[in-house]
Amino acid sequence: MRAVDIIMNKRNGKELSRDELEFLIRGYVEGRIPDYQVSAWAMAVYFQGMTPRETGALTEIMLHSGKTIDLSGIEGPFVDKHSTGGVGDKTSLILAPLVASLGIKDPMMSGRALGHTGGTLDKLEAIPGYRTNLSVEEFRRILATTGFAMTGQTSEIVPADRLLYALRDVTATVESIPLITASILSKKVAEGAEALVFDVKFGSGAFMKDFSQAEQLARSLVETGKAMGKPIIALLTDMNEPLGTMVGNFLEVEESLDCLEGKGPADLMEVTLELAARMVLLAGKAPDASTARQLCEKALASGKPRELFLKNVEAQGGKPEELLRLRGTYRSPHWKEVRAPRSGYITHIDAYDIGRAGVLLGVGRNTTSDPVSPTAGIQFHHRRGDKVQNGELVMTVWGKDQGSLEEALPLLEGALHIEDALPAPRNLVAKEICAS
Ligand code: URA
Repeated sequence: MRAVDIIMNKRNGKELSRDELEFLIRGYVEGRIPDYQVSAWAMAVYFQGMTPRETGALTEIMLHSGKTIDLSGIEGPFVDKHSTGGVGDKTSLILAPLVASLGIKDPMMSGRALGHTGGTLDKLEAIPGYRTNLSVEEFRRILATTGFAMTGQTSEIVPADRLLYALRDVTATVESIPLITASILSKKVAEGAEALVFDVKFGSGAFMKDFSQAEQLARSLVETGKAMGKPIIALLTDMNEPLGTMVGNFLEVEESLDCLEGKGPADLMEVTLELAARMVLLAGKAPDASTARQLCEKALASGKPRELFLKNVEAQGGKPEELLRLRGTYRSPHWKEVRAPRSGYITHIDAYDIGRAGVLLGVGRNTTSDPVSPTAGIQFHHRRGDKVQNGELVMTVWGKDQGSLEEALPLLEGALHIEDALPAPRNLVAKEICAS
């Protein structure tokens, strides 16, 4: 077999066999096939696409390019949720203890903030002492005792994706639905989840801005999962506005605690409960989504998810008392306000602009090695649909330093749209995709 023939076959629109894909991906990981040939193949895939069979084969080959997490000896069911990334999206911090309180284990391997989107690991690390670099043994122990464990991906998991993703990033081949599917799914399956819920976001603050593109990705994830014997449900959720009232690392931990205490904002609770309900459904703990949602609401009201969250904080090295003590006060000393420039209804607060301002403030990062600030962020006092008076406080903004505030302020002011008429209501959870 020769790499050049595989590239040519794909370029000419042929379906590649599992053997051809294995030859290419293995050869790449083992250093026998150079970057330039894999780049050419990725570009051919970008233009020609892949059949469901090819996408499934690629996902499995990538999955087996490294180690997988062995959860044997721990009682399941193991169900995880993955989001394609958003602004103010802290649903993982709420739903992991929530489903854990219903007897579901969530082995969660998350990412860091990158570009305008936030990262679960950065949020959790804003809790003083909280560790997200768990060894596999620690991950297993914490999962078994608190029902969920939160860690970063180890370098041994899906090494093919680390290489391929870095290559796609610099060859304009990230935006390929089959390549995204194989990348996301191989990592999620390697973590040991038996079933998965995907939050595929669309809108200005999402990775896939366009609804139909997001829908295609959701279908591809669900169908590829089915071919691999993994039950998957995907929800398409609106990411045009930031989710909740807080954007920032410690701020989002605080808002998650509010949600666990039954005081969360309606939009964040809606998305979280809909996702959690699908996890409960896939775990076989309820006959349908609406019963599953009722179970989630009841569990939340019992206070057990909050207890499990604090138990997990302790198990991962944080101090629950310290977290509760810092609540409401752990903020950067550099702050400013954004006030309404006119009276009217807030019709839109653009999630992408808020995410980009977050990077400047120190909430997120441009490159993987940039540091983030735990105490930077944005609090929204008013949001879409609210009536405001000229000069009324809309956002409080904390920056890592004074300069970052000066830079971010024009973006934040530009993100805020006020008009005379009340905006139409949004459909936050716009569609559900299940296997056919
Ligand atoms: N996120 C991933 O993990 N992989 C992709 O290819 C795109 C987004």
